[in-house]
Amino acid sequence: NIDAKVSELLSKMTIEEKVGQMTQITVTIFEDRAKPGYFDAAKLKQGIQDYHIGSILNVPNPGAPTLKRWQETQTAISTEANKTRLKIPILYGIDAIHGASYTAGATLFPQQIGLAATFNPSLVKRGAEISAYETRASSIPWVFSPDLDFPRNPAWSRMWESFGEDAYLSSQMGVALVSGYQGNNVGSKYSVAACMKHYIGYGSTTTGKDRTPSIIPERILRQYDLTIYQAAINAGAKSVMVSSGEINGTPVHASKQLITDILKKELNFQGVVVTDWKDIIYLYTRHKVAESNRDAVRIAIMAGIDMSMVPEDFTFYTDLVDLVKKGEVPMSRIDDAVTRILRMKFELNLFENSVANLKDYPKFGSAEHIQEAYNAAAESITLLKNEASVLPLSKTEKILVTGPTSNSMKYLNGGWSYTWQGENSDTYAAEKSTILEAFQNKLGKENVLYAQGADLEKEDEAEIQKAVELAKTASKIVLCLGEKNYTETPGDISNLYLSSSQIKLALALAKLNKPIVLVLNEGRPRLISDFENKMNAVVQCYLPGNEGARALVDILYGDVNPSGRLPYNYPKYPNSLEKYNRKYTESISEGEQNDDAKYEKSYSPQFEFGTGLSYTTFTYSNLKINKSEITTSEEVNVSVEVSNSGFKAGKEAVLLYLTDNVASITPEFKVLKRFEKISLEPNETKTVKFTLNQKDLQFVNQDLKWIAEPGTFTIQIGNLKKDFSLK
Ligand code: IFM
Repeated sequence: NIDAKVSELLSKMTIEEKVGQMTQITVTIFEDRAKPGYFDAAKLKQGIQDYHIGSILNVPNPGAPTLKRWQETQTAISTEANKTRLKIPILYGIDAIHGASYTAGATLFPQQIGLAATFNPSLVKRGAEISAYETRASSIPWVFSPDLDFPRNPAWSRMWESFGEDAYLSSQMGVALVSGYQGNNVGSKYSVAACMKHYIGYGSTTTGKDRTPSIIPERILRQYDLTIYQAAINAGAKSVMVSSGEINGTPVHASKQLITDILKKELNFQGVVVTDWKDIIYLYTRHKVAESNRDAVRIAIMAGIDMSMVPEDFTFYTDLVDLVKKGEVPMSRIDDAVTRILRMKFELNLFENSVANLKDYPKFGSAEHIQEAYNAAAESITLLKNEASVLPLSKTEKILVTGPTSNSMKYLNGGWSYTWQGENSDTYAAEKSTILEAFQNKLGKENVLYAQGADLEKEDEAEIQKAVELAKTASKIVLCLGEKNYTETPGDISNLYLSSSQIKLALALAKLNKPIVLVLNEGRPRLISDFENKMNAVVQCYLPGNEGARALVDILYGDVNPSGRLPYNYPKYPNSLEKYNRKYTESISEGEQNDDAKYEKSYSPQFEFGTGLSYTTFTYSNLKINKSEITTSEEVNVSVEVSNSGFKAGKEAVLLYLTDNVASITPEFKVLKRFEKISLEPNETKTVKFTLNQKDLQFVNQDLKWIAEPGTFTIQIGNLKKDFSLK
């Protein structure tokens, strides 16, 4: 059994070997400067044999190695590890966050925000199984995913790495990714260990800028953020990465309360706690809560950190060995950390299998996998507006495709694709279709008009004019706007509006009075209120990955019926960033119910959470609950009939919201409690059933306790509502 193997191995280890296991180094440190992507043998030997490092992360230069190259890399690492006294394998981790996104030829899925929009956890789980398969094919057993961040400011540059603004949706999707990655046996050659990140509060920066401070009262942290982690821990997530930020003045890496008391003890997390990039050093150099590197190491390890990501020059190792020898860090803390790391290595079966046999992975990048990525993209793309049924397009119409995101793969994939910022998608995914190419493939090159129209940032009147002239000869315009590829701090913005070069293009085209379909290709909701009323249709495609453009164009032509739903409120104004589960005071005030102007002032998203149109119509009827009054030990069974009352087969995500009508903590306007995606043929009706339990009625009260209070609750599905009371 694994626990016995871990104890036996631990008992043989020196302090140095133990601390080495807690060290994770970036692969590029071992590179031969003259030959990027290849190891300098002496450096690799020094890291593995002299410093006993336990883990390596990241991608060799110049990015996106082939399967064969990954195999050679991992063989070199494992050969070196096998020369050490105890032959402990190296745990290799990577940011394969939407497929094996650092391997050439891998299948790339939509980024997480798009996965959330599918409202289809089984589809998401299937995608994670494929990601695991292709990542293990690259001899990598550990992915830094899922992202369980809970963004509170939509400007945040990692918004798209999250599942959006709802904690329940995020929990369900987080569980889908964890169970897809890890499978029933994480040691199988087709599974990888998941890493929940970034524990905790990382996505909640007040400014919306990456790694700036968050203020989150403990009550709120417990009611929302922690529930997402609890669900993923219950699903068996093997590791967690800590947030680089601070909450209420304490950097999370320095917080014993958050890491040891809450995560390890209260949530009973038994896996590995790894830092984010250089974050121990930053306790000293950036956060200023430590007086030296050594002091930072002591604070972080005593807070409960098990593994240090990227202490670039091995000072973590020397400092920690010294701290243990001088009794400033007890051996029990080191043993806890190393036990967790070794357990994960045994569970992943790395002692037996750390390099992939490529023959085991015939489906890498296969048509079957690509089809799944296409399906995920097709179910994520969200139709937000379709005035006078301007969509679907007809093949006989002359279409102008324009806009800065219309002809590049890097905007479709976003960050963490082939390279950190995703800069090289056009090279590595050259055979995939951009939006323009997907149009051309469908209609024939000669039948599509194209002008770039604008740069993402630079204003260019002449480019706009070219697009306007061409648009005069078109019957409809497909205007593709959005954002550059980015992640982390390089993606920070100070202005949530789309760039002015793009707004100018939209306004110039709108003057022609031709139907315009606005396609948004963006990681976060950039404001479009300056011109949205001049657009006839709006389609959000998020960052849909390598197969995204094909799926998009199939949707635009009605070959696929859209079924995505927005996983966040799309704001209209920069000072109106309310969430859908707002409080009553943010929504409508007494006496103002019929006053549209005041209503607009208090709650005014451009598009609300859950918005998602279809080319058919769905009708909801017969909302029923089995009891109108329950006691604290009873459940409520809910059913509703959903009919396809239109003319096209389609999928519908049925959402159940709950409102606690009166509570000692001001209740939310409505909260998502359940959802299910169904398929319906025209004229078909299905009954969708949900069960709400006591936990669904609870909230965290002033004493930080989960509690359900007696009173009435309202269930809402579509426009139908039903009340019940809790005695
Ligand atoms: O996993 C990432 C994390 O999300 C941001 N900092 C770097 C880590 C490893 O690349």
